[in-house]
Amino acid sequence: MEIQLLKDTIEELFSNGKGILAMDESTPTCDKRFEANGIPQTPEMRRKYRQLIIKTEGLSDSIGGAILYEETLQQQTDDGEPMATALLKSGIIAGVKVDQGTKLLAGFENEKITEGLDGLQQRLISYKGMGIRFAKWRAIITIGDGIPTDACIYANVQDLARYAAICQQEGIVPIVEPEVLMDGNHSIQKCYEVTEKVLKSLFHHLYLFKVNLEGIILKPNMIVAGTENKHQNTVDEVAQATVKCFLSAVPASVPAIAFLSGGQSPEKAAAHLNAINKNFKNHLPWKISFSFARAIQQPALEAWKGNEDNVAEAQKLLYRRAKIASAAHLGTYKP
Ligand code: 13P
Repeated sequence: MEIQLLKDTIEELFSNGKGILAMDESTPTCDKRFEANGIPQTPEMRRKYRQLIIKTEGLSDSIGGAILYEETLQQQTDDGEPMATALLKSGIIAGVKVDQGTKLLAGFENEKITEGLDGLQQRLISYKGMGIRFAKWRAIITIGDGIPTDACIYANVQDLARYAAICQQEGIVPIVEPEVLMDGNHSIQKCYEVTEKVLKSLFHHLYLFKVNLEGIILKPNMIVAGTENKHQNTVDEVAQATVKCFLSAVPASVPAIAFLSGGQSPEKAAAHLNAINKNFKNHLPWKISFSFARAIQQPALEAWKGNEDNVAEAQKLLYRRAKIASAAHLGTYKP
């Protein structure tokens, strides 16, 4: 494995305040979001929507890389160009989500395991031929009555480690995403404890499976109270808890942390990221950036509504949200 190649890709992805745009919603997730906006749930509408994003003028001002869904890799722009090629031409590095979604973990209630390790090496080889330089695997951990269990945490972080090792073997940067979900009425302290435990277990397994930490991107949740908890913390409290948790659990050799937005509003996600960078950047060993899906796309999707006449307006909103996320990476966003 040529570690320098991986390090160079990571450096490029996050240079000059840039971050990652996640546009890799699986078909069921995309369907849900389309349905909520009255958009037909067809492969053609998904193609049009992904084209709208990729063809947004100047997106590379703030986006260093975009994560595509496997379906999108097989689709073309109106000009007949493969989507990944169009993305690369616009100056954005192409990545791909390679997990194949979550299933209920057998023997456990309400806990999930991510699938997709079978045949992963072959898929990576073929994606590399399409110009893909990084990949993503998302594991989810749910907080609830008596959960997460140790078994669920171990199963998920072990698979994340195996995925990361296979990616590095093929010269692809793995985005390692252990998402502790915001669903529930738990406190910020509970989120802190669970996230810290998951991260410590994750880094133990990355070590066991010989993953080179200098060649990964960590994509975690921020430390926030559950969405149903009436007590929501201030922006500065979230930033402080998040930094404390990551300093306790993430080795300094990891080059970059790119947060997911996880269902936070675009404003909240940007404000939290901004506060982390503004207040703590000079004391942290990693770059702290974003890998948002909803917090960048949501206003654009709502404006588009599947209507050709709204494409320009949707692109304007997408560009704006990406710019804001980038300012938050730099710690210069003024809400
Ligand atoms: P959100 O930013 O909407 O949480 O999505 C990020 C992502 O890629 C989830 O896997």
